[in-house]
Amino acid sequence: MLKRLQQKWKVGATQLILIFCVFAITGTTTAYLSATARRWAGFTTDTFWLWKVLLSMVVLIFGYQVILLTVAFFFGQFSFFWNYEKKILTRVGWLRKPASAQSINMKQLTLFASGAGSNAREIIRYFKDSTTARVALIVCNKPGAGVIGIAEAEGIPVLMIEKERFFRGDGYVPELQRAGTDLIVLAGFLWKIPTALINAYPRAIINIHPALLPKFGGKGMYGQYVHESVLQAGELESGITIHYVDEHYDNGDVIFQTACPVLESDTPEQLAQRIHQLEHLHYPIVIRELVEKI
Ligand code: GAR
Repeated sequence: MLKRLQQKWKVGATQLILIFCVFAITGTTTAYLSATARRWAGFTTDTFWLWKVLLSMVVLIFGYQVILLTVAFFFGQFSFFWNYEKKILTRVGWLRKPASAQSINMKQLTLFASGAGSNAREIIRYFKDSTTARVALIVCNKPGAGVIGIAEAEGIPVLMIEKERFFRGDGYVPELQRAGTDLIVLAGFLWKIPTALINAYPRAIINIHPALLPKFGGKGMYGQYVHESVLQAGELESGITIHYVDEHYDNGDVIFQTACPVLESDTPEQLAQRIHQLEHLHYPIVIRELVEKI
């Protein structure tokens, strides 16, 4: 249930605890404020019920919001709760939706994916209603890959690329620039990234790897091969690594890692499933945290 909340609110575990604290303190303070306001107004058990309801509503509607944002500020969660309030105000019609994505500096993500596309699907879903970033383009090198259907269903353009131009040409940089790409996200993309692309997007290309790098990385280490090697090596834990991309396979600076247990009874498929769950939970959050800094 906590994991679901994390996904819904798009936050990590520590932030979730801070959010709970903000709600708890705000609730208690509002209840105290409401009782104080009743005393201050001189209300007794004989006071007409409508006055009591009206006073409670004023405290709840205005007081709660102010207290919420104040407490959130002290917990370093102002932007989460301000966005939360904006959503509510937009829903009740007190705030207008932003005219366009560009007007609020929405960042453009380009996903490189050539597999089943489960990570791409989760990232697309995560950013669907986001005001921070959107998936502008999917780049794929494998006709018939599962990710193509996912992109089509979501109305996201797909750029099919071929080897010669990718490695010996311009790396498709003009197309990526035309899509307004701010961050390139590799999600199951197995070709090495050429220098032309790395130079055009310095520290703006990231990859996810289904193991705890530097172990079980490098050429030929992808998908099922990684999990088979982890099991063969008798590892007690595996995990995921999100890292910047450089000219070598699975080599750039690590941005995020988290582990999960490897069970003695695990098959590569079972381990893959556990790793995929970690990827789906964390990759979108890490991407959001990165684009917020761009
Ligand atoms: C993911 O597990 C990703 O970590 C891995 O490919 C899978 C793609 O799955 N990437 C690598 O192994 C890169 N070396 P998906 O197509 O379902 O997102």
